[in-house]
Amino acid sequence: MKAVYADILTALLSRDADEKCRLAGQLPPLAAEIRSGRDAETAAADFRYAGLPDGLVLVPPSAVTPRKMNTPEGYAAMLHAICHIEFNAVNLALDAAYRFRRLPVAFTRDWLTVAAEEARHFSAMRDRLRAHGFDYGDFEAHGHLWDMAYKTAYDPLLRMALVPRVLEARGLDVTPAIRAKVAQKGDTATCGVLDMIYRDEVGHVQTGNHWYQYLCRERGLEPMALFRRLLSRYDLFIFRGYVNLDARERAGFSRFEMAVLENFEQSLQHGKTERNAF
Ligand SMILES: [Fe+2]
Repeated sequence: MKAVYADILTALLSRDADEKCRLAGQLPPLAAEIRSGRDAETAAADFRYAGLPDGLVLVPPSAVTPRKMNTPEGYAAMLHAICHIEFNAVNLALDAAYRFRRLPVAFTRDWLTVAAEEARHFSAMRDRLRAHGFDYGDFEAHGHLWDMAYKTAYDPLLRMALVPRVLEARGLDVTPAIRAKVAQKGDTATCGVLDMIYRDEVGHVQTGNHWYQYLCRERGLEPMALFRRLLSRYDLFIFRGYVNLDARERAGFSRFEMAVLENFEQSLQHGKTERNAF
């Protein structure tokens, strides 16, 4: 049997973007060889950081270059931000596949498939960034996505709840507006990449939803109530800005759940306003 877990680890820790993407692309067919995560040939490790390119500078979210699309630099900064999200998404999917090995093999296979798709997204968006005269690492980036991975590293249920169902699902809300602005600039090649990302991302959120429901069932927890508790505990919101209900429904959120969530967030907001009034 091939050492699949060792290969996942190598891809996860690789600091070379091309190498990471090449390795991630090779993993899905190898996943068929995994019988059980308990047979993994490498120990589960608690890494604080996944591999990021050496030249990439991480700063707090408030300190990244403004993505003003009306300047060439601002436009490139926007493309760079998408590259960075996709690069983190490769690491996040590889990390889920490598770390949570007590789950059914189908979980590992699913996240290796996601990792390969995220690697395609990154490479395609990096090509667009290069076409505009810049490369990955030319702008500062923030560590927000990976921070959430680390905060949820101890529990796959928490990971599924907060990364695919909150952070990745937010991508479904914002991508159509970004695409419209890119189309306005006449950048059809980038529109094509955004279309691919948007289509695949519905599937990734769906994968997250599937495993969130599975883990709730396994633990006898009520998925909707738990999700609301987690959102308020981690101070996260869904209904801030446009929410893409169609895409979310295709990704496995029911209209009922979205309505309950909206109501819940409004009542939280209302409660805060009332408290502040005293
Ligand atoms: Fe992606």
